[in-house]
Amino acid sequence: MIEIPYFTALTTYFSYALLFVLGHIRDTFSYLLFRSQTTKGYAPLCRDFEDFYTRRFYRRIQDCWNRPICSAPGAWIDVVERQSFDNNKTLKQTTKVQKCLNLGSYNYLGFAAQDEFCTGRVIASLERFAGSTCSGCLDAGMTTEHEELENLVATYLGKEAAMVYGMGFATNSSTIPALVGKGCLVISDSLNHSSIVAGVRGSGAKVKVFKHNSPEHLEQVLRKSIAEGQPRTHRPWKKVLIMVEGVYSMEGEMVRLPEIVAIKKAYKAYLYLDEAHSIGAVGPTGRGVCEYAGVDTADIDIMMGTFTKSFGSCGGYIAGSKE
Ligand SMILES: Cc1ncc(COP(=O)(O)O)c(C=O)c1O
Repeated sequence: MIEIPYFTALTTYFSYALLFVLGHIRDTFSYLLFRSQTTKGYAPLCRDFEDFYTRRFYRRIQDCWNRPICSAPGAWIDVVERQSFDNNKTLKQTTKVQKCLNLGSYNYLGFAAQDEFCTGRVIASLERFAGSTCSGCLDAGMTTEHEELENLVATYLGKEAAMVYGMGFATNSSTIPALVGKGCLVISDSLNHSSIVAGVRGSGAKVKVFKHNSPEHLEQVLRKSIAEGQPRTHRPWKKVLIMVEGVYSMEGEMVRLPEIVAIKKAYKAYLYLDEAHSIGAVGPTGRGVCEYAGVDTADIDIMMGTFTKSFGSCGGYIAGSKE
């Protein structure tokens, strides 16, 4: 973990606090002065924190991170400088461009750039199959390329079968509800990605959270949950699914996989591993955290990953037993 210097943290929080206080003072005054202009009988359209945040915080500071780029998004990008004459309400592009390290978009590794090996092959298969077939099989049918890709993913990961999807987020959010539902328990790392959170919420399963990357806390939660069973009825859970990521997307930490696998085996739970950031990136041959940590992929029930990071493409996969 990178420690943020105290000075940076303090001045950042201070600036936010100042914007918050001044924003409320300005809003109070404009409300007192102009409230008569709100049409009677109509609810004010924008009166929540999101609206306050957009007007008083985001608009003023958006140029710190939200800047247009004018090059292909590779490992390096050309960022356009802008200026504002109305306190950042509107921003005008200048002709100045800054070359920056890309820490903010897909293809930050630069693998999707023009490439001698891939580009010709991609164009040839697009000419043969058309762009519409880039969709998931459920949307637009299965082609031989889909089948080949699914077999390749399964073999690459050492799993029996795989399914591919057109979008990484939807790989999680649409698969999790197919795996668990009412009467099931999901035990999820506290810093799991929002696509996992969306999938679990949509599944109807009960969810409990364990402290980030802490197998000790996971075991406590797991043991207590199994002992207590389902709420009210105390029946055993239909399924218990542990959800972790290989490399955590915001913190960059590696999952403590061997310990988590040992716990999952001891309590006979299922394990779902999201490798969006670890597949293709770690392990001697890029096969992800299992290869890195010396864990057999047979011990992971559901292996999920995306093609959006190391593979410089789009979409995701789920690999597991054929059943
Ligand atoms: C851990 C994790 N899972 C899933 C996704 C969703 O993948 P995509 O961005 O390809 O939709 C991301 C995206 O960054 C992620 O970090």
